[in-house]
Amino acid sequence: MNHHNLISRLPKAELHLHIEGTLEPELMFALARRNAVELPFDSVEEVRAAYRFDNLQSFLDIYYQGADVLITEQDFYDLTWAYVMKCREQNVIHAEIFFDPQTHTGRGVPFETVIGGIHRALDDAGRRFGMTTGLILCFLRHLSEAEAFETLEMAMPYRDRIVGVGLDSSEKGHPPAKFERVFRRALDLGLRTVAHAGEEGPPEYIREALDRLGVSRIDHGVRCEEDDELVARLAEEQMPLTVCPLSNVALKVFDDLADHNLKRLLDRGLRVTVNSDDPSYFGGYVNENLAAVQAALDLDRDDIVRLVKNGFKASFLPRDKIEDCLDRVDRAVSGCEPSDLAD
Ligand code: ADE
Ligand code: ZN
Repeated sequence: MNHHNLISRLPKAELHLHIEGTLEPELMFALARRNAVELPFDSVEEVRAAYRFDNLQSFLDIYYQGADVLITEQDFYDLTWAYVMKCREQNVIHAEIFFDPQTHTGRGVPFETVIGGIHRALDDAGRRFGMTTGLILCFLRHLSEAEAFETLEMAMPYRDRIVGVGLDSSEKGHPPAKFERVFRRALDLGLRTVAHAGEEGPPEYIREALDRLGVSRIDHGVRCEEDDELVARLAEEQMPLTVCPLSNVALKVFDDLADHNLKRLLDRGLRVTVNSDDPSYFGGYVNENLAAVQAALDLDRDDIVRLVKNGFKASFLPRDKIEDCLDRVDRAVSGCEPSDLAD
């Protein structure tokens, strides 16, 4: 049975989405032209053809290069607004969005320009559509602790615009412990913390993120499966994992979607959520990720509803808003045609 109708009709949350990873080739070209930036590609087709990756690093190289076209506040607005439009199409009603300020400040784009454009678009999305959002500032883990502290300092005038901090970029060789002190400072400021861990890195990095960074969620976390005790702990603590299936296949964390451990982890009681990571690079937004795992892993209706509800339960929304969203999911399930629901 295919559940495309159910998937598209359910209201959803997205918790693992890099705004720079939503830059579609068409917008990349438009911004390159607007800003007179030279691209190493001649056409949209050439860009898409370059999106073949061997691992995380081969993706990051091209992702940071793509971000070079983002220069003005309006560029960041347009990027974010395009994602808001996708959320409307996909029935994503709540999104907690990562941004990588160091990718931009490192090229001379002021922090204020970046957060200003992103925030203005999210503000408009709230006012016009009632969409709720949160912004999570990610530190690039291949850079130093001192640079992460400088970035957190730059964010201080905009403290009320962010819900938390995260950790992304090249995982291997950059363990969570490298950022323990800066995460401590963020926690002291009342920010939530999350971290990419166990995407390419070992289960030990997931433990470190839990024990030393005080995280509320693990981003990816799929390599936890190599450590039974860790899996038991994640289940016991109901620690959310923001899993990104199409990303994992594109970056060869799994050879094939049929090998993905999402269903096994769900069946072991983990709070697994489905997200899109860098949708313009990996071939799909949340609905495409859900539809792809549904087909590859033969998920039934209850699995899909559980995954979608987990997205709200794992969010940083206040308790009462989470309950409202869960009710909306239940109402959408009851409003579906019987043919959308059959297993
Ligand atoms: N930056 C953008 N996407 C990422 C991912 N999947 N892992 C680490 N850093 C990233
Ligand atoms: Zn990510």
